Amino acid sequence: MNGVATEVRSPRDEDELRAVWMMLSRAFGWEAGNFDTFVAGSPIERVLAVFVDDEPVACSRIREFGQFFGRRRVPMGGFSPVGVAAEHRGRGYGSLVTEAQFPLLRDRGEVLAGLYPATNSLYRKVGFDVAGVWAKHRVRTRDLQLVPAARGVTTRRATEDDYGAIEACYTRVAREIPGFLDRSGPWWDRIFTAEGQQIYVVDGDAGEVVGYVRYKLQWPPRASVATIDVAELTADDPDVGHALWRLVGSSSSIAPEATLIGPPEHTLLFSLPEQDLLAHEHWRWMARVIDAPDAIAARGYPPDSRTDINLRLIDPQCEWNDGHWRFVLEDGEATLERGGNGDVELGIGAFSALYTGYASTHTLRSTGRLRSDAPGALARLDAAFGGPIPWMPDFY
Ligand SMILES: CC(C)(COP(=O)(O)OP(=O)(O)OC[C@H]1O[C@@H](n2cnc3c(N)ncnc32)[C@H](O)[C@@H]1OP(=O)(O)O)[C@@H](O)C(=O)NCCC(=O)NCCS
Repeated sequence: MNGVATEVRSPRDEDELRAVWMMLSRAFGWEAGNFDTFVAGSPIERVLAVFVDDEPVACSRIREFGQFFGRRRVPMGGFSPVGVAAEHRGRGYGSLVTEAQFPLLRDRGEVLAGLYPATNSLYRKVGFDVAGVWAKHRVRTRDLQLVPAARGVTTRRATEDDYGAIEACYTRVAREIPGFLDRSGPWWDRIFTAEGQQIYVVDGDAGEVVGYVRYKLQWPPRASVATIDVAELTADDPDVGHALWRLVGSSSSIAPEATLIGPPEHTLLFSLPEQDLLAHEHWRWMARVIDAPDAIAARGYPPDSRTDINLRLIDPQCEWNDGHWRFVLEDGEATLERGGNGDVELGIGAFSALYTGYASTHTLRSTGRLRSDAPGALARLDAAFGGPIPWMPDFY
């Protein structure tokens, strides 16, 4: 590429940002008129583009999130979107514009990065690996009325005045579920303005919202029946959850089938009389630890846990993570300190999958992602990081 000036940087002004957006809209086949929505998603300094002779040919943007692991909020940057102009693909620009965000994420204290991959291989090469699940299930809508009756629980339609209480309800529940996002303001705006969405809530005794459901009830073109798609049902209490499921089930007369975004192993299996829930669509999101010591310090661990394990971390992109570390866990607080003999050797992608609790050391070892002759250390790593499969209802 002699004589071609290539730069990776943020757009300098709105005109450049618009040029980046036009490139993205062509790359993804998105409606070009949605520039304002793009702008509202993240500030301009979170956008990086590859400019070739001043023309933007690739872009990555980071959404600001937190993510809960071990009941603690870990600052996380979500890549969304990453796109390369069709005529410039296959030249490394997608990897370049992804990797270039790593030092910026670290500077802002976003110790973890996440994304929904269109292809795993691009992101694996720069240190991401599969680390959690997004799952959609299918159920006969009428079956949702078979969950236990919830006496004395009243559902009502939400208004804009409920949005703050809905956010508070979500955050209470989210903290308990590994992988759930701590949603940012722009993300909540996007959720609340989703076209055609209906939201119902249950009130608590102290004016709080103790549960809500968001769904779309739609008539596909020329269809003789409607469809009902539940984006999220969040509840603090089993009766509240059951009341909301029954409310969804009450549309069975026009929408015989419902889809539900939920945990890969759905909690409804404890409430339905039979296993009448079918897997519909599964995606795995990927994660990448950006700053290993700070990420280790940020997440939570089983209370009272104690251990000391020597790690050898391989990270070709982030030299600040690469090398020998001691993982020290005391009373549920962990640190990574330089040193040790590297008993357990793993790449940053495997470390990220272990960190979220998605992969056990057995999985990583049996797939060649982790090497160790210290079986005791592996069992102790599993005890520190393991737990329910991380998932989230958000697709960003
Ligand atoms: C996916 C996309 C970003 C890749 O951009 P790119 O500049 O061609 O990517 P790179 O040249 O950096 O490729 C790096 C690696 O990613 C992998 N890769 C890239 N595109 C791929 C594809 N379409 N399918 C499978 N693997 C792919 C390859 O393993 C490649 O490594 P190799 O060159 O050693 O084989 C680009 O094709 C694109 O914008 N597609 C449309 C939008 C999209 O899907 N965005 C991603 C959303 S997560």
